[in-house]
Amino acid sequence: MSEETSTFESSNGHINNNGDCPEGSAKSKRESAQPSQKRSSRRKSQTPKSNEIATVTLGNNGPTVTALGMGTWAWGDKLFWDYGNSYGASQVEEAFKAAVRAGITFFDTAELYGMGESESLLGRFIKEVDCPINVATKYSPVPWRFSVESVSEAITASLNRLQVDRITLYQVHWSFNFLMSQETLMNALANEVQRGRIECVGVSNYSAEQMLEAHTLLARRNIPLAVNQVQYSLLNRKVETQGIINTARKFGITILAYSPLSQGLLTGKYTPDRTQIPNGARRIDPRFSFQGLYRITPVLNLLHQISEKYNKTPAQVALNWLTAQENVIPIPGAKNASQAQENAGALGWQLAPEDIVILEQATRPWL
Ligand SMILES: NC(=O)c1ccc[n+]([C@@H]2O[C@H](COP(=O)([O-])OP(=O)(O)OC[C@H]3O[C@@H](n4cnc5c(N)ncnc54)[C@H](OP(=O)(O)O)[C@@H]3O)[C@@H](O)[C@H]2O)c1
Repeated sequence: MSEETSTFESSNGHINNNGDCPEGSAKSKRESAQPSQKRSSRRKSQTPKSNEIATVTLGNNGPTVTALGMGTWAWGDKLFWDYGNSYGASQVEEAFKAAVRAGITFFDTAELYGMGESESLLGRFIKEVDCPINVATKYSPVPWRFSVESVSEAITASLNRLQVDRITLYQVHWSFNFLMSQETLMNALANEVQRGRIECVGVSNYSAEQMLEAHTLLARRNIPLAVNQVQYSLLNRKVETQGIINTARKFGITILAYSPLSQGLLTGKYTPDRTQIPNGARRIDPRFSFQGLYRITPVLNLLHQISEKYNKTPAQVALNWLTAQENVIPIPGAKNASQAQENAGALGWQLAPEDIVILEQATRPWL
């Protein structure tokens, strides 16, 4: 279960305090945009030198990104996350800077998040740092997009909002075949790889069968499917029983684990006594009700117990458990600097094999 992704040394040695790039990772942006960017071949992750952060290769031969990314759905999203009330642009900017200071340079967004605002904010923040940032964004396959041109137009709009020439990873947000076949869509994405506007192709929320179909269609164009982004955490392990994890491993497709903290539940700050109530749509989510929180108490107790042993936090243990799974990159969301810094601290150490097993056994009801 645990393997290369967790075999690294300290990721904290290079943190500085001024919002600059971490030592050892700073390269010019132009360098990062070159197709010849250094890549590993078969290894899924590399063991870094003491001042470098652990990295993972996307897919079989895609770009190399940090072994933990950062999700930016909450950046600009008022509908679900309450952006603009309890937090805003300056807090998420600080989150970005704290992540970069801690060595995290892989950011996940989508054209849909905040109706483009997440991409725009990320684009603005990228301009403010000197080191290469890897951006993953997503295409929304909505019914009114039925022509190949609509894929190209969506990429142009994302590139403009992000203010970059190339997107590291371009993902299809969910599977939708009604008016545009997967074959047409994958061919349109393959064209964009050849054009150089996207570096590699991913999908999201695809079943094992849908993922295999995308892989097969892209393979005809000699392009590997790099990623399937799916919901995966200690409190949602369905991807293991649905054959997604095993199929991804077999075909060298990297799993990006979204909602890896179960939308905050695995931090341990939401408890049945409800001293802290989540903002936004989670207020009406049964997982955040008394019963929902009561049900997960044994898992949170275990996380607290294990985290004390390592002098870490429950969130860091929950994220480290994911990095210990073969070929999985967690992309926790953060709304402020302290959350970003804490989440980055999930790298640079490893859970002992017996603790990985204990957590696996305790969370089987969530398989
Ligand atoms: N492909 C898809 O369909 C899809 C779907 C969902 C998400 N995603 C991606 O995955 C990313 C992460 O998922 P997510 O945002 O749903 O859930 P998550 O990462 O499990 O949880 C994020 C939330 O937990 C809280 N939090 C995070 N770190 C914390 C810390 N260290 N201490 C205390 N609280 C902390 C914050 O909210 P509070 O402070 O308000 O509790 C934060 O907004 C998204 O940003 C997005 O990029 C993709």
